[in-house]
Amino acid sequence: GMQRVSFKINGEMKQVDVTPNAVLLDVIRHRLDMPGTKKGCDHGQCGACNVHVNGEVINSCLSLAVMHEGDEITTVEGLDSEKDLGPLQQAFLENDGYQCGYCTPGQMMAASYILKDDRIGNSGDELRQAMSGNLCRCGAYKNIVAAIQDARG
Ligand code: FES
Repeated sequence: GMQRVSFKINGEMKQVDVTPNAVLLDVIRHRLDMPGTKKGCDHGQCGACNVHVNGEVINSCLSLAVMHEGDEITTVEGLDSEKDLGPLQQAFLENDGYQCGYCTPGQMMAASYILKDDRIGNSGDELRQAMSGNLCRCGAYKNIVAAIQDARG
């Protein structure tokens, strides 16, 4: 049977009827029509599916939608306004951090968390460590780190 789950996503309350085994990533992409969040490995290894849940970064490919009753979820679509690039997007653009772009939404969600966390230092090593859950097949790691450093300004 279906189960109803209600959560806030990018500031909007949503109710969806899902099967108990429906994965959050699939619900976001296919039921809520927010295709920004990507499916890379589908096994918690690549970070392409990163979203924020109640302020923490999670791999949405490993999480069941029914576990998110009452949660506040942010996807990459929620990071900026519709017209303007947010500061992080701008910094990725200026530092050539996008490359093919497939991993970018997940990189952004991890990076935007780092922007708020003062405990993480701003050296390349520390940022690379903090971003280690996000793989980039194009190998744009240096550019991504540079973008985060810029955005932290
Ligand atoms: Fe979720 Fe790779 S798709 S971690």
